[in-house]
Formats: sequence, C-alpha cells, structure tokens
Amino acid sequence: MKTMKLLLCLTMLCSLQTGLAAEPSPERQTLLRDLLKNDCGACHGLTLQGGMGPALLPENLTGKPDEFLVATILNGRKGTAMPPWQPFMNQDEALWLVGVLRGTSYQNK
Ligand code: HEC
Repeated sequence: MKTMKLLLCLTMLCSLQTGLAAEPSPERQTLLRDLLKNDCGACHGLTLQGGMGPALLPENLTGKPDEFLVATILNGRKGTAMPPWQPFMNQDEALWLVGVLRGTSYQNK
C-alpha cells in the first residue's frame, strides 16, 4: 500500500514537471509559427505590426502579463474581432506563442 502511494506521488510529480516544462514539439512549433503568420497575420499584419488587430510586437506587449495574453488568445475577446483559438492550441502552446511574440523581432524568425 505504501509503495502504491509513493508511485502515485511520483507519477503526479512527473506530470507536474512535464506540465511546467512543456514546450511544443518541433512539428507543432512549425505549425504554430505558420498559424501566426497566416492566420494571426491576417488581422495583426503579416509582420505583426498591426492591421485590423493591434500590433503584437514586443514593445506593444510589455507590461501585459502572460496570463492576460494567453487568455486573450485562447478565449478571444468578446465584442471584438479577436476569435478564440482554443480549438487549435492548448494553454502551453498559447504561452509558447506569447514567448515568440515577446522574443526577438518576428522578421528574424
Ligand atoms: C479576425 C481578426 C483576428 C485574428 C485572426 C486574430 N486576432 Fe488577435 N486580436 C484581434 C483584435 C481586433 C484584437 C483587439 C481586441 C480588443 O480590442 O481588445 C486582438 C487582440 C489580440 C491580442 C491582445 C493584444 C493586446 O495588446 O492586448 C493578442 C495577444 C492577440 N490578439 C493574439 C492573436 C493571435 C496569437 C492570433 C492567431 C492565433 C490572433 N490574435 C488572431 C483580431 C484578430
């Protein structure tokens, strides 16, 4: 019985850790980058400098917390053109995308 509990604990710990470190697979990264360029780019501009939607360059995102931006991406914004992307990506992937947006210039990618 003790061993079972220990095993259960270990499994939970492991899933917690992979949850924290989760980075999309290389294939998903390519897919997400394509999505960013083609789909997000349709509104936010091909170089993300803004269009129908606001610019998403690093300087536009400073001061906006990850959780806020992740929630915007996953749920969209009601009453605006920003659609929810939850059907296409999970939370880790949305967070990774925010990292891409905050990172070095989009044009260098
Ligand atoms: C149909 C147009 C459209 C598409 C497609 C779109 N967005 Fe948006 N997005 C908007 C609009 C409009 C806003 C501004 C909403 C508002 O007024 O608050 C916005 C807001 C945002 C914000 C918040 C910016 C801020 O400064 O608060 C983020 C982040 C964002 N979009 C990311 C994305 C990502 C990532 C994608 C692709 C997966 C995407 N958007 C696709 C229209 C779009």
